[in-house]
Amino acid sequence: MASEQVTHSRILGTGAYAPERVVTNHDLEKLVDTSDQWITERTGIKQRHIAREDETASDMAVVAARRALEMAGLAPTDLDMIIVGTISGDVPMPACAVFLQSKLGAGPIPSFDVSAACAGFLYGMSIADQFIRSGLHKHVLVVGVELLSRLVNWQDRTTCVLFGDGAGAAVLGPALGDGRGVLSTKLYTDASYADSLKIPAGGSKEPISAEAIAAHRDKVHMVGGDIFKSAVKNLTSASRSALVDAKMDADSVRWVVPHQANLRIISQVAQRLDIPMERFVLNIERYGNTSSASIPIALDEGVRDGRIKPGDTVLMCALGAGISWGSALVRM
Ligand code: ACO
Repeated sequence: MASEQVTHSRILGTGAYAPERVVTNHDLEKLVDTSDQWITERTGIKQRHIAREDETASDMAVVAARRALEMAGLAPTDLDMIIVGTISGDVPMPACAVFLQSKLGAGPIPSFDVSAACAGFLYGMSIADQFIRSGLHKHVLVVGVELLSRLVNWQDRTTCVLFGDGAGAAVLGPALGDGRGVLSTKLYTDASYADSLKIPAGGSKEPISAEAIAAHRDKVHMVGGDIFKSAVKNLTSASRSALVDAKMDADSVRWVVPHQANLRIISQVAQRLDIPMERFVLNIERYGNTSSASIPIALDEGVRDGRIKPGDTVLMCALGAGISWGSALVRM
């Protein structure tokens, strides 16, 4: 029957987790030639959470996932698929989603990672939406998790001050036909800046070696200015495209949940979209850039503290290494 046909998905529950240990900008002043003032003024970051030595990405993901399932009123065995956006999974192979599936106690459902760096959660959400729209799956868990503290060079002040560890999750299920749900998702990739943000060694092109480790080529390398400029431009255009797709304008957006990489990027996007900063859910000050975890952590905070209410229209946008970027428009 047409009325029972699934036309799109909706978010049934959200969850997040950040490791207990907090590292402040002042702590980093003791490690590299930096200052609280520089980090605060250039990025908006004041502190970040850093995982314990024995903590893995899937350990963090499972806590966020359980919280999202609890909010959704579902058990792990109700899931039909697990998608994890991450570039810092437990091991290069198999996928982080495999360990998450086992720790959650889900069934033998398809579980895989998406490698789209900071855009990983939005890529995962878009894939989940397609499976639910097609009617193939009912409940899909999407997680963004990142343990970037293991992938940065703690002697490189241009990167180590930026990132933090954490996990965020959302459970998606069929929309009820009441107007709530995922209205539009947009995904993009442009290899022109592939060299501006990368981990050079550890893949098949440059296998890990003692030389690579000594030169920190197994850690994140970034030309920040390139990424900054493309972020402002592409986050704005992807957000506009999601609005056009859904036949909506910026005024109808109640909340923007942006990827939290740099407060200056966010404020320039806000200006271009003509959406006041008061309508942005921001937590970069406390978490730093948690890459694929940043949107679901902020989304969960907004939902749990009551800012984001059922029926609110939420715009999400993210950009990261690749460069890969995207946006999503969701009526909660
Ligand atoms: N403390 C003090 N000084 C510093 C630091 C630091 N931590 N880092 C750099 N500087 C210095 C630089 O050496 C430079 O000094 P110089 O002028 O003497 O050469 C000066 O500060 C300015 O450096 P810039 O790189 O020009 O600073 P900018 O204003 O561009 O800010 C930043 C750098 C914060 C990295 C910014 O470019 C940025 O946020 N880029 C985007 C990051 C991003 O969005 N990444 C995508 C997601 S990450 C992912 O996908 C995994």
